[in-house]
Amino acid sequence: MGDESKKNWVLMVTAQSPTNIAVIKYWGKRDETLILPVNDSISVTLDPEHLCTTTTVAVSPSFNKDLMWLNGKEFSLAGARYQRCLSEIRGRASDFEDEEKGICIKKGDWEKLNVHIASYNNFPTAAGLASSAAGFACLVFALAKLMNVKEDCGTLSAIARQGSGSACRSLYGGFVKWDMGKDLSGNDSVAVQLADEAHWDDLVIIIAVVSSRQKETSSTAGMRDSVETSPLLSYRSKEVVPKRIVQMEEAIKTRDFPTFSKLACTDSNQFHAVCLDTRPPIFYMNDTSHRIISYMEKWNRFEVTPQVAYTFDAGPNAVLIAPNRKVATLLLQKLLFYFPPTPDTELNSYVIGDKSILKDAGIESMKDVDSLPLPSELKDSIPPQRQKGDISYFICTRPGRGPVVLADETQALLHPKTGLPK
Ligand code: DP6
Repeated sequence: MGDESKKNWVLMVTAQSPTNIAVIKYWGKRDETLILPVNDSISVTLDPEHLCTTTTVAVSPSFNKDLMWLNGKEFSLAGARYQRCLSEIRGRASDFEDEEKGICIKKGDWEKLNVHIASYNNFPTAAGLASSAAGFACLVFALAKLMNVKEDCGTLSAIARQGSGSACRSLYGGFVKWDMGKDLSGNDSVAVQLADEAHWDDLVIIIAVVSSRQKETSSTAGMRDSVETSPLLSYRSKEVVPKRIVQMEEAIKTRDFPTFSKLACTDSNQFHAVCLDTRPPIFYMNDTSHRIISYMEKWNRFEVTPQVAYTFDAGPNAVLIAPNRKVATLLLQKLLFYFPPTPDTELNSYVIGDKSILKDAGIESMKDVDSLPLPSELKDSIPPQRQKGDISYFICTRPGRGPVVLADETQALLHPKTGLPK
């Protein structure tokens, strides 16, 4: 083999990572560069079958610079957050050898090899569904596998954290806590798994993607303003969250849905109250989000014990959690009653993800949507306007697993010979 052909190898890894939804929110940093939070947070990892990022990372002596493509378009890696993740992983790489392909990479060689990264979200980035969490978790996980990094998942979570805070929680499946840590280095600000996805697999999650024309304040800018101006945020992080974390951990451990629901709803509302307490105030929820809260509160009060939990991140979308399929069926019926699709929308594209819930709810056509019964909690009140078009679509999902390597080469986003996007 001539020298040139020896340089033609491409080594690559493809991984898939989930997104996550916080039920005790992260909002506010004590260190902007290292991304260290002002309080602990807890999240549920969402099933990657419905929401995930797939990333292929590759190295080759033939690549002459680091390059990235996001959803098929070239994307700059110049940002400090990408640079930190890349250098943290490169600094921890170990020797790698594949005799068959004639590849031998020594620990110190990784710094000299350029990477190609291609990333793809299986959900619309514009929908505002925590794409940065899944994205950075996947990037760090895939690079660590490629560069033979021997560190545990906790250390990888601390690296993903430096890409985007919430990304550290996407390194695990199930129920995850991000421990804020105390160290100035950030080494103890890591995610830990509280329980895997099998622990509480009855839970059903329905995401209402709310139609919105508004350009939202980014989480990064929003939380910076909150830290600087909101007195409620410092009270929340010191006095409220530490107690809630203990209670939420216990609720998850014992699968206590009423407590889980009460804590998740209250915490989401307090996070949005902090946003209002910020100067200038930040509005992430809109009228549709507020209507969803009212309907869910009304239902929970009517039934005495909570049927559903709701939580909203830095946008108008609602994440609704039901304790089991039976309640989820009722939830979907109610949601479709309150928010029917516009006449030109196909039911099939209005409810996506795990469509079996739609089937359980006995809804197979638009005619079934039109004849949905009045929710029982409304029996004594004036029926609300059934507004069409306020929701773009619903995603039915469940708690899911953490990142995995996809061994099947057909799922790679880069060409195995050229290392360029397929
Ligand atoms: C409202 O992780 O997106 O979703 O660390 O600046 O990248 P950066 O912010 P990001 O913030 C997420 C905030 C949240 C709550 C949460 O996920 O805990």
